[in-house]
Amino acid sequence: MSRTKIAVVTGANKGLGYAIVKILCKEYDGKVYLTSRDETRGTQACEELRSSGLSPEYQQLDITDSDSVLKFIKGVRDRNEEVDILVNNAGVLFLKDAKESKIHQADITILVNFFSSVIFTENMLPFMSEGGRIVNISSSSGHLSRIPSETLRKKFKSEDLTFSELKKLVLSYVESVRQNEEISDVWGDSPYVVSKVGLNAYTFMLNKRISSRGKDK
Ligand SMILES: NC(=O)c1ccc[n+]([C@@H]2O[C@H](COP(=O)([O-])OP(=O)(O)OC[C@H]3O[C@@H](n4cnc5c(N)ncnc54)[C@H](OP(=O)(O)O)[C@@H]3O)[C@@H](O)[C@H]2O)c1
Repeated sequence: MSRTKIAVVTGANKGLGYAIVKILCKEYDGKVYLTSRDETRGTQACEELRSSGLSPEYQQLDITDSDSVLKFIKGVRDRNEEVDILVNNAGVLFLKDAKESKIHQADITILVNFFSSVIFTENMLPFMSEGGRIVNISSSSGHLSRIPSETLRKKFKSEDLTFSELKKLVLSYVESVRQNEEISDVWGDSPYVVSKVGLNAYTFMLNKRISSRGKDK
C-alpha cells in the first residue's frame, strides 16, 4: 500500500504561508498541514479553505515554543508520518516605524526567523522522507551584499563555517545590539537582514549536509 504524502507549512494562517497551503491543497497529491502559532487564527484559516472545497489539516505549531514543537513532532511520530515537503515560512518583520525597542526587535526577529526556524528544521530532519524537500522562505533582504562588513560577508559565505560557528556569529549580532554598540557599518541597521542572511547560510550548509542522503541506495 502506498504511503500518504505529507506537506507541512509553518505560519500558514495568513500571508504567503496561507497562499502556499491553498496551492498545495489544489495541486499536491497528499495531506497538507496548515500550522499556526495561534489556534483560533489557524482553525479559522482552515475553515475558510474548507468552505471553498479544499481539505487542509490543522496542527498548532509555535516554532519559538519548545513544548509546541515537541507536541507537533510527537504527532508526526504517533501518526507514523514521513514529511515530504516542509515549508519554513513562519517569520516576523518589524516595520521601520515600529515602536518596540531595537533590542526587542533584534531579539524577536533573530529568534523567530533564524534560531527557531533552524532548530525546528533540525528537529524535523529525522521525520523527513528520503528525497523530501525543505523550503526555507528567505527574502531579497537576505542577500549577503546587505551586510556592510566584508569580514562578516566572508565569514557567512565561508565553506568552512560550521553550524555551531554560524549560530555564534548570529548570536554575536544580538549581543552587539544588546550592548548598544555602534554596528551600522558592520551589521547594518536591520535585524531582518541579519536573520535572513543567517537563514540563507544555514540553508546552503544544510543542503551540503543532506543532499547526498539516499543517493547510494
Ligand atoms: N510578504 C513579502 O513581501 C515577503 C518578502 C520576502 C520574504 N517574505 C517572508 O515570507 C514569510 C511569510 O511572510 P508574510 O509576508 O506572509 O508574513 P505575514 O503575513 O506576517 O505572516 C507571517 C506568518 O508567520 C507566523 N508566525 C510568526 N511568528 C511565528 C512563530 N513563532 N511560530 C509560528 N508562526 C509564526 C505568523 O503568525 P501570526 O498571524 O500569529 O502572527 C503568520 O502566520 C516570512 O518568512 C517572510 O520573511 C515575505
